[in-house]
Amino acid sequence: MTTADTAGDSPITVELGERSYLVHVGRGLIGRVGALIRERLPAARKCAVVTSKAILGIHGNALMEALGGASIEATSVLVPDGEEAKTWSCAERLIGELLENRLARKSAVVAFGGGAVGDLSGFVSAIFLRGVSLVQVPTTLLAQVDSSLGGKAAVNHPMGKNLVGAFHQPSLVVSDPELLITLPRREVLSGMAEVVKHGVIADSELFDYIEKRSGELVDTDPDALSHVVRRSVAIKARLVSLDERDSKGVRVILNYGHTAGHALETLTGHELRHGEAVAMGMEIAARISAELGLIEEVDVGRQIRLLERLGLGMTPPKVGVEDMMDAMRRDKKTERGSIRFVLPTGIGTPPVFRAVQDELISSVLEGEGYG
Ligand SMILES: NC(=O)c1ccc[n+]([C@@H]2O[C@H](COP(=O)([O-])OP(=O)(O)OC[C@H]3O[C@@H](n4cnc5c(N)ncnc54)[C@H](O)[C@@H]3O)[C@@H](O)[C@H]2O)c1
Ligand SMILES: [Zn+2]
Repeated sequence: MTTADTAGDSPITVELGERSYLVHVGRGLIGRVGALIRERLPAARKCAVVTSKAILGIHGNALMEALGGASIEATSVLVPDGEEAKTWSCAERLIGELLENRLARKSAVVAFGGGAVGDLSGFVSAIFLRGVSLVQVPTTLLAQVDSSLGGKAAVNHPMGKNLVGAFHQPSLVVSDPELLITLPRREVLSGMAEVVKHGVIADSELFDYIEKRSGELVDTDPDALSHVVRRSVAIKARLVSLDERDSKGVRVILNYGHTAGHALETLTGHELRHGEAVAMGMEIAARISAELGLIEEVDVGRQIRLLERLGLGMTPPKVGVEDMMDAMRRDKKTERGSIRFVLPTGIGTPPVFRAVQDELISSVLEGEGYG
């Protein structure tokens, strides 16, 4: 793979009719954010950069200079770091700051951060003045490969995650893998789990690439990251184009590893990073699939070995099988009481989404060391 292949000069389109948008992926693109906004949203001469103090401190200058250089009047609005940003009260405070800064209908909100900043900014831009344009400039691997595109935006409620939200597609996404060099290792790995997921459900070449370059990827080599971000974005863009609101059963395959993953996140009180839980969830789903004869053992073995090599082959947390079953049943993907899983059929081949008998799930969980 040459640098030219991963340079990101050709953006990826999320095809959604009049809501279509481009996802630019490439090294150094942070310096072009202003120009890209001018091109896509010529009327947005003013914008609010929503970010956290930590992220602004690390990469803020580069973004602000790029916006200033394109004669865009930009103010930064600070929100708490990480998941704490995803609350109703933060949304309300953010709206207040946008009003104080006199942001207008034609202005844009620029989400500059990980999935948490992105989800809060997406939600607020969906409702502020009945909707303003959103530009995503994701700074975590997870946000670059997953949360910055697709239009799902939400804040949490004390009763659960992402319970208050909206669909609001961004107008533009700009992903610069050089921003990921400063990302803590655990965050890199968390995003990498979603990249492995994309390989398993849709792209055997991507999977091969991660196998060959696992060391460089974990060490945040920007060229290697550029490549996997592009491939991941291409997969998600295609699925979102076919099923914008996740209602046709097409986009659901992106939930591979998430049935058990969400349960693990809840039961561990969110001590696990999302990707860590998804990695464990993928192992569980792959084992179930093998028991049902839907996938060859060799392919399950390949996936598990890759996750281990990436540092995602973790010992299951101390949670009981029955607690796992209950948590999965409470998830929205149940069908008349039975738990549904995205089950892989190989590496890069389309998975299936189906209900699985409780006895089989319990026995796989026991075999994996739960309970
Ligand atoms: N909308 C969607 O489709 C979608 C999809 C997947 C996940 N999500 C959401 O995404 C959120 C998780 O996002 P996340 O994993 O990006 O975590 P995050 O946004 O909480 O960020 C993780 C940490 O990384 C730090 N950070 C961010 N960029 C950095 C950088 N370049 N250098 C150094 N540190 C940096 C942040 O300050 C934060 O402490 C969850 O709330 C989840 O629900 C949404
Ligand atoms: Zn996920």
